[in-house]
Amino acid sequence: MRAMIFETPEGPDSLKAADRPVPEPGPAEVLVKIGAASLNYRDLLISKGGYRKRQKQKDLVPLSDGAGTVEAVGPGVEEFRIGDRVTACFFHEWAAGTATEHALETDSGRSRDGMLQEYRVIPVSGLVHTPRNLTDAEAASLTCAGITAWSAIVRLGRAEPGDTILTQGTGGVSLFALQFAKMNGCRVAITSSSDEKLERAKSLGADHGINYSKTEDWGQSAKDWAAGDGVDNVIELGGTETMKQSLIAVRPGGTLSLIGVLSGATTGNVLLPFIVSRDVRLQGVTVGPKDAMQQMCKAIEAADMKPVIDKVFPFEDAAEAYRYLASGAHFGKVCVSVSGD
Ligand SMILES: NC(=O)c1ccc[n+]([C@@H]2O[C@H](COP(=O)([O-])OP(=O)(O)OC[C@H]3O[C@@H](n4cnc5c(N)ncnc54)[C@H](OP(=O)(O)O)[C@@H]3O)[C@@H](O)[C@H]2O)c1
Repeated sequence: MRAMIFETPEGPDSLKAADRPVPEPGPAEVLVKIGAASLNYRDLLISKGGYRKRQKQKDLVPLSDGAGTVEAVGPGVEEFRIGDRVTACFFHEWAAGTATEHALETDSGRSRDGMLQEYRVIPVSGLVHTPRNLTDAEAASLTCAGITAWSAIVRLGRAEPGDTILTQGTGGVSLFALQFAKMNGCRVAITSSSDEKLERAKSLGADHGINYSKTEDWGQSAKDWAAGDGVDNVIELGGTETMKQSLIAVRPGGTLSLIGVLSGATTGNVLLPFIVSRDVRLQGVTVGPKDAMQQMCKAIEAADMKPVIDKVFPFEDAAEAYRYLASGAHFGKVCVSVSGD
């Protein structure tokens, strides 16, 4: 079968086509013919070996996100049948509740091979049925960005109609957060470095847009927009450079959903009184378990919600998909067609 591998991870140019044997599913496992895969910010780091000892440094098949069709099932599998359309969970062994340290090591495309190959064996515990209204590329985007946003808005965020949400940028997680927040009757403000992208976000339902390149105190601007005491839930994706403004935006007793580190992974510039004197809840968000994926898929199907896919690259142009994501030109998800749409 066709696969793409990083012989050694030295950026997109080091992605090479390879030939691999088709694996066989064991007990409680399923062989999936991957239709499409999608890329996340972390895949850029992995492509350069950025996870160091925490990633496979030789012959890695990258990408955690994939969706496709069941080709074969191993002994004892009852939940899935040949021909079912399925989507991979980010962690293959996190069923429900709080994750264990072991569960947090069961992602793919980092220390274990991922989805940029024609076939992948996936345990039943790491698969869900694909929403009927989605293509494989749309479904692949649920594995990481979709479920992370669902967790921030619904699973951990417990959004109520009328809540105010502030989400950062127009990448994968942020646009899913916008869509799930609107599905739950929330008001949404979104930031972007581009006025044109802000207009596109408004056409998806955003109530307010702030250009963070032009408005340095965008946190205050979001607070003013939210009225009352400020924003109920800030979807924090920027990290180092955004935390301070996020804390200005959030209302006393509100939530910072800590998800991303787009501008850095330390918080040295945060004034603790913004948190400790205002009952602010810091909620770390780590994708989500299988039962939350199933709930999210039901909601997507019921609402006929469509993930925002910017581009689907052909398999042989997968390296170009990495370059495109790195350019920051994208709006929503960047995907690769593996053997399907
Ligand atoms: N904790 C988890 O479970 C989890 C899961 C998924 C992702 N993440 C993290 O969440 C972050 C976003 O991931 P993603 O895959 O959605 O990324 P992405 O699709 O690559 O989104 C990048 C977009 O974010 C915006 N952006 C970049 N730097 C920014 C900054 N300093 N301030 C505000 N916005 C900025 C830009 O939007 P504009 O072009 O509109 O300016 C950019 O296009 C990453 O740090 C990723 O590692 C964490």
